[in-house]
Amino acid sequence: MKKKILGITMAMVLGLSLVACGSEGGGSSSGGSGTTADGGGSSTVANKDKPLVWFNRQPSNSSTGELDKAALSYNKDTYYVGFDANQGAELQGTMVKDYIEKNIDKIDRNGDGVIGYVLAIGDIGHNDSIARTRGVRKALGTGIDKDGDINSEPVGTNVDGKASAVKDGTMEIGGKKYVVRELASQEMKNSAGATWDAATAGNAIGTWSSSFGKEIDVVVSNNDGMGMSMFNAWSKDNKVPTFGYDANNDAVAAIAEGYGGTISQHADVQAYLTLRVLRNALDGVDIDTGIGTADDAGNVLTKEVYTYKEDERSYYALNVAVTAENYQDFTDSTKVYEPVSKQLDKGKSASRKVWLNIYNSSDNFLSSTYQPLLQKYDDLLNLEVDYIGGDGQTESNITNRLGNPGQYDAFAINMVKTDNAASYTALLNQ
Ligand code: BGC
Repeated sequence: MKKKILGITMAMVLGLSLVACGSEGGGSSSGGSGTTADGGGSSTVANKDKPLVWFNRQPSNSSTGELDKAALSYNKDTYYVGFDANQGAELQGTMVKDYIEKNIDKIDRNGDGVIGYVLAIGDIGHNDSIARTRGVRKALGTGIDKDGDINSEPVGTNVDGKASAVKDGTMEIGGKKYVVRELASQEMKNSAGATWDAATAGNAIGTWSSSFGKEIDVVVSNNDGMGMSMFNAWSKDNKVPTFGYDANNDAVAAIAEGYGGTISQHADVQAYLTLRVLRNALDGVDIDTGIGTADDAGNVLTKEVYTYKEDERSYYALNVAVTAENYQDFTDSTKVYEPVSKQLDKGKSASRKVWLNIYNSSDNFLSSTYQPLLQKYDDLLNLEVDYIGGDGQTESNITNRLGNPGQYDAFAINMVKTDNAASYTALLNQ
């Protein structure tokens, strides 16, 4: 369609459009962040005016989910990059529901007419995690309303179906009625405070299965790190379908061995956007360059893979379900997204220094999928990135290593707790 034509004529047209874009972009962002293009020498720009991108953990109130607009618009070159949590959550819920419907003849393992599932919750104060819990409860009919939305609290154990945070759902399949019950759910937080903790999930399934294993027909997890831990500890051997989120390599490979499915949050697009918004601000070009508008190397994204919400200053990648039907297309989660895989010209986009942190260096998704992608894109975008790995527990473990922001041209931040944006901006304000 339109894309193709663009592609063919791109080489010719881009030269022209970029001349146009350059002047326009410079105007719209009043010269971008303005780190003077002096070949990487020391910059005269105040730290508070340097480009800043929040990623993976959106500045927001961890109890109410309300966005922290002050942090999201810290300066004119501040953005958030994540993915569409609600669209993804709905996909995850639907994926689980579809699986149950298609496999109804074998899913109810003890034949009691109750389809029991357990749910691993990542972080009760993280809006991605909250959305996924709600998406699953909504699709399976186990959610109850709380303040106008589905309650996302963990239930602990609920083998008798009496918990107050969920209700029993019903599904009618092939003329027969089944009860759907959330037998147990828990935030997977270890004793040191790290959330989304895979080892904790592995232990939880051990405890749950030893007391009511026969009733567990489906295992659902807010992410693949915890999902795979439960799969390896119990559900693989017991042939209980297990569902996660992230499409990490090991989880996608496990689909061949009975892992039920996962969701790709298009980390290949998110990692690109994370660095691309910084690149554009540093170059003083229009923020849409190489995103919705092709750059002169030909990098461009289509609206099928992301959305941008101006009032939230946020880019959201779109999610795709990965199941037995299509997993062969997702076997390498660290592969750059082809439409944005072209090297930028060093003459126009000179090397710049970026400080970037990963809140928890042992988070499966961030360390095995997101960071390897960032490391590929940083080369393509001529960014020299210092990667700082946190312990997943304390903000100070990370902020202590932002001691000299003056050495960097831009910042990419992955907070431990979504309420804590000010611990970072305070350092940039100094
Ligand atoms: C991922 C999780 C990860 C979390 C970290 C989520 O988007 O799905 O796997 O643990 O981000 O913040």
